[in-house]
Amino acid sequence: MKGIILAGGAGSRLHPVTLAVSKQLLPVYNKPMIYYPLSVLMLADIRDILIISTAEDQPLFQRLLGDGSELGLRLTYAVQPEPGGLPEAFIIGADFVGDDSIALILGDNIFYGPGMSDFLRESRSSLDGCVLFGYRVSDPERYGVGEVDEQGRLIGIEEKPARPRTNRAITGLYLFDNRALDIAKNLTPSARGELEITDVIRPYQREGKAKVIDLGRGFAWLDTGTHDSLIDAGQYVQVLERRQGVRIACIEEIALRRGFIDAEACHRRGARLPKSGYGEYVMDIAKKQMEMGLR
Ligand code: G1P
Repeated sequence: MKGIILAGGAGSRLHPVTLAVSKQLLPVYNKPMIYYPLSVLMLADIRDILIISTAEDQPLFQRLLGDGSELGLRLTYAVQPEPGGLPEAFIIGADFVGDDSIALILGDNIFYGPGMSDFLRESRSSLDGCVLFGYRVSDPERYGVGEVDEQGRLIGIEEKPARPRTNRAITGLYLFDNRALDIAKNLTPSARGELEITDVIRPYQREGKAKVIDLGRGFAWLDTGTHDSLIDAGQYVQVLERRQGVRIACIEEIALRRGFIDAEACHRRGARLPKSGYGEYVMDIAKKQMEMGLR
């Protein structure tokens, strides 16, 4: 399975903050926003990842993450010239994906909750069509909204409906088989003038091949779309990290725990950021691993 992080867009609801820098590079507490979706893909054991951004922002993402080899990843980059909708990720990324299946995640979606690595890997290995992740929200009209039957199959989906039929938002993480590439290629723009992800999902839904996994109440799917929600997301991460002394979305830690890199490589990464708590944490987990006699 290949991963795509879609990190384009003008971030206009965050102006003037995003006039000079991409929204997905803004801090969510102590790390750039893109670390969060990147860590979700890593938890699913996806190591081949395409990052799609605007042309102006591409060098910044490259400066931050490089070719990914230090994290045991293969990162490549592509440009979305104009924000034309999520399915463009499949058109822009077609060569990168080849005949593989795809995990698409939006660069501004933050997921945090128990057992994520397990259910992502399980959904990956049993993929038959597409897998979506539902989340109960109080403002479903802002999202894609899904109706689901008792077996967890999607039976209806609407993009930002004025009168939502359920409170279940379909979040910005999608697993698709390779057919999504063809479906995306043949889409026409909606009334908003963009290609819609719901139109990629609908053919799967008609065939009963769109599965929805509901992220439960103990799960956090956080919004970063407005100044307030961005601060809220940062504070959520801050509260948990300070209380528990662990880091959320620490990409070095995930790379180490999933065996993408060894403890020495992890330590080297931390040693480059010695003055920040983040760097200390990365060095610490690497040292603990070495003390246990593990590599
Ligand atoms: C997009 C999708 C929507 C989904 C949302 C998740 O909306 O079109 O279906 O629920 O992402 O973040 P956008 O953020 O582009 O308005």
